[in-house]
Amino acid sequence: MKLPERVTICEVGPRDGFQIEPEFIPTEQKIEVVNLLSEAGLPRIEVTSFVHPKVVPQLRDAEEVMAKVRRRPGTRYSALVPNDKGAVRAVDAGVDEVHTVVSASESHNLANVNMTIAESIDKLRAVMQVAERARVAVACGISTSFGCPFEGEVPLGQLERVVGRLVDMGARAIGLADTTGMANPRQVARTLEHLMPRFPGIEWTLHTHDTRAMAIPNILAAMECGVTHFDGSIGGLGGCPFAPGASGNVCTEDLVHCLHAMRVETGIDLDRLIATSRRVQEIVGRTLPGQIVKAGKWDRRYPLPDTVAGRLPNAV
Ligand code: COA
Ligand code: ZN
Repeated sequence: MKLPERVTICEVGPRDGFQIEPEFIPTEQKIEVVNLLSEAGLPRIEVTSFVHPKVVPQLRDAEEVMAKVRRRPGTRYSALVPNDKGAVRAVDAGVDEVHTVVSASESHNLANVNMTIAESIDKLRAVMQVAERARVAVACGISTSFGCPFEGEVPLGQLERVVGRLVDMGARAIGLADTTGMANPRQVARTLEHLMPRFPGIEWTLHTHDTRAMAIPNILAAMECGVTHFDGSIGGLGGCPFAPGASGNVCTEDLVHCLHAMRVETGIDLDRLIATSRRVQEIVGRTLPGQIVKAGKWDRRYPLPDTVAGRLPNAV
């Protein structure tokens, strides 16, 4: 396999995860989780979103969370915004980077942000101006890049047109999001092989959901295409409130474990990450989908059964 030596992980659990929790997560606990993730060495954390508080009431405390997290040098703190109003709030709250959102399919874009794709792109132009004035970086995410829960297949040409509009507007970082886990590894490779040479110089991120157990295979396919930026959520929290059937992101600690087992560096302290995942399970009050928290790391060893002890032959 042709894998990069190092990849950059962005933790999106505090946004993509907490936005869909049935119970409001108390602000103090959100801050605690972001601080634990920082201490585990996450290079990037999507802390919250500056959206309409009635539309996503779970994140109505965005300003307070952003203001109170302990900023670790070396971690880039971002937030999701759908429009310029969100961008102004995010910049005022002191984010390092704003993450924008538009869908590749009209139906999901209307369901998610109540705008057509063209209207969203107009708003994103205003977002970019707000960010530029504040000297804050922008990364543009594209939801339903690999399929839409309402429309099904999203033609590659349509995705390419949305990417083109964003690049024309000055986007230099683009995230392709598999919002409801519809992508498969061949499709991911085909999509990236098509887009990457057409839009040189773009920093591509793959944002996966493990709805159909294809997230890590999809990430491996993207790594083989040269992608080095991936989103994940602690414990596998997550889902989109406006995409039926959506479930959690790829679980960050499972992904980091897989990468470290393959000797791909992330700069993340896996043991601290696993401890953070346990704490998040306590906070949300249920077992999360992550596997490594349950199984332990690959080098875990068990005591030899009595029936075997003393009977091992010398190595051949
Ligand atoms: N933050 C807070 N309030 C906002 C806002 C923002 N980012 N954007 C708009 N508003 C307010 C407006 O000020 C206006 O307030 P008023 O009624 O007091 O005048 C009101 O919302 C309506 O504005 P409008 O532009 O018509 O918004 P809308 O009702 O069409 O909603 C969005 C559009 C984008 C704000 C809303 O759909 C949204 O927040 N979506 C987020 C979805 C999301 O987070 N999805 C999951 C992540 S992918
Ligand atoms: Zn998502």
